[in-house]
Amino acid sequence: MEPERVLIFDTSLRDGEQAPGCSMNTAEKLVLARKLRRLGVDIIEAGFPIASAGDAEAVRRVAAEVEGPIIAGLARCVEKDIRVAWEAVRCSSRPRIHTFLATSDIHLAFKLRIGREEALRQTANMVAYASSLCADVEFSPEDATRSDVSFLCEVLQAAVEAGATTLNIPDTVGYTTPMEFAELIRTIRQRLHGAEHVVISVHCHNDLGLAVANSLAGVEAGARQVECTVNGIGERAGNASLEEIAMVLHVRGDRYPVKTGIRHDEIYSTSRLLSKILGFETQPNKAIVGRNAFAHEAGIHQHGVLSNPLCYEIMTPETVGVPPDRIVLGKHSGRHALAHKFKEMGHELSAEEISRIYQDFIRLADRKKHVYDQDLLSILYGQRTGARQPQAGPEMRT
Ligand code: KIV
Ligand code: ZN
Repeated sequence: MEPERVLIFDTSLRDGEQAPGCSMNTAEKLVLARKLRRLGVDIIEAGFPIASAGDAEAVRRVAAEVEGPIIAGLARCVEKDIRVAWEAVRCSSRPRIHTFLATSDIHLAFKLRIGREEALRQTANMVAYASSLCADVEFSPEDATRSDVSFLCEVLQAAVEAGATTLNIPDTVGYTTPMEFAELIRTIRQRLHGAEHVVISVHCHNDLGLAVANSLAGVEAGARQVECTVNGIGERAGNASLEEIAMVLHVRGDRYPVKTGIRHDEIYSTSRLLSKILGFETQPNKAIVGRNAFAHEAGIHQHGVLSNPLCYEIMTPETVGVPPDRIVLGKHSGRHALAHKFKEMGHELSAEEISRIYQDFIRLADRKKHVYDQDLLSILYGQRTGARQPQAGPEMRT
């Protein structure tokens, strides 16, 4: 049986860019949107058109120029927001209006200053209005995971009856846990009349570091759309990271019998492109796309990886488009890795020569964070000619 499809909804251009230092201009949004299409995302949320004229223009350009994925624009459950969002996305051949309203008591009382009845009324009216403009309407009950479940289900039911085609369940403040979230998704699917005719989506924030785990728990419970961002950028601690979601579903297909449309070998270059646009890197140990994600320095690991990459790698760097240089030399490296590195540089060395070079290499690695190819070649030529050994440069540790 064909595995079911999980739709990947990328919100790097909307929730992602709401993070400090992550705002993008129209030209940057267009470049990233084209790359997201190449990556194979199903839906691109291009922005929040009511937020500014610039954002409305960016959404309009993405809708007009990026053919293939659905292009969504965000709107509060407010008539003007929805009208402006529709004007921005309508030139796409696949437009979507994504409208949201908070359902938790704390948001109703302190942010919106309305009661539950009014929230229910606004949801029904505004989803109906959005549906009168656009056939594809997504509704999100903001702060769903801190909402009363019965009230949440009432609001979702009203949204479906008013024409919503996707119901997105946001963990707006990154509060839920995987088991609790899975239970919530199951409850919604059981209680909602007509649940089988809408797509249930998940949208998780990473305040407790659980965004990816919670999203996957949602998928296990039947969600078929995941909202995420490249490099996990987003409000506060970020959103669920697209690359992690896509690779868990791919590598652990035994646990998740679903598929996405993501082209895995485009993942790394998409991550690099976003870093370049934003002007900052992901942390080096970031899963899948971090500088060290496929780097092995410990000698015992390097020996294992050189003999068979599967000893210490559950996926190859090439799968996600990382160039294959995964051996990083440092003071934990062994002779095997050193010999391999020299071979890569075109020098097939004898065991005795490697042993001699190894002593100089370890002395240098003890003092420098990174030993570069140039350092190794200096050691080799130094050994062969009796010249001075390389000195530790500016990165010297002590
Ligand atoms: O986190 C959130 O609740 C949101 C909604 C607008 C979907 O970003
Ligand atoms: Zn969000």
